[in-house]
Amino acid sequence: MPGEQREVEFRFLAEPTDVNFGGKVHGGMVMKWIDQAGYAAAVGWSGKYAVTVAVGGIQFVAPILIGDLVTVRCKLIQTGTSSMHFAVDVTARDLKSTMQRVATSCVISFVALDAPDGRPSPVPAWQPLNDEDRRLADYAKRLIELSKTMEAEVARFRPVLPG
Ligand SMILES: CC(C)(COP(=O)(O)OP(=O)(O)OC[C@H]1O[C@@H](n2cnc3c(N)ncnc32)[C@H](O)[C@@H]1OP(=O)(O)O)[C@@H](O)C(=O)NCCC(=O)NCCS
Repeated sequence: MPGEQREVEFRFLAEPTDVNFGGKVHGGMVMKWIDQAGYAAAVGWSGKYAVTVAVGGIQFVAPILIGDLVTVRCKLIQTGTSSMHFAVDVTARDLKSTMQRVATSCVISFVALDAPDGRPSPVPAWQPLNDEDRRLADYAKRLIELSKTMEAEVARFRPVLPG
């Protein structure tokens, strides 16, 4: 049901086709996993088709190696009118060990779209329930503001194409 599923978790093995020449998973592949898990979480929460609008604060802090067990966790931490913002953590574990490493973290934002003309469409509101939720919601708010500032700066230098 829309408005009920706050978290999504994907788990799978890093495959030989995911890695670069150095034997580590491509950054682009990690971004694809984040986008897919975010998409599943956004559609699950809103009950509508949704598109990625921004990714904030992404940093690759530790490599993921071939054969690692990868976990992508997406947790809803803020909603607007049509937007949903998720904290994402990507962790990896060598199956021969019990030690989990944080590989990447970010906040990914989606906008729900309505079916006939693809315009932003309202989503169920999420209310923080405890101090941890409120801390995460504040964090999301700050990142969204930073992301919009960066977006405006990038837009100033966007090429103007003829036609
Ligand atoms: C997402 C899209 C529909 C938004 O359209 P728009 O006309 O800019 O709509 P709005 O200005 O009303 O913004 C819609 C929401 O996005 C939010 N938003 C816009 N830029 C944002 C950013 N950088 N960070 C977080 N949220 C952002 C707005 O705050 C608004 O949220 P709200 O409804 O909760 O208040 C449009 O930009 C688009 O189609 N982008 C391409 C999406 C895409 O192709 N993604 C990759 C493939 S899935």
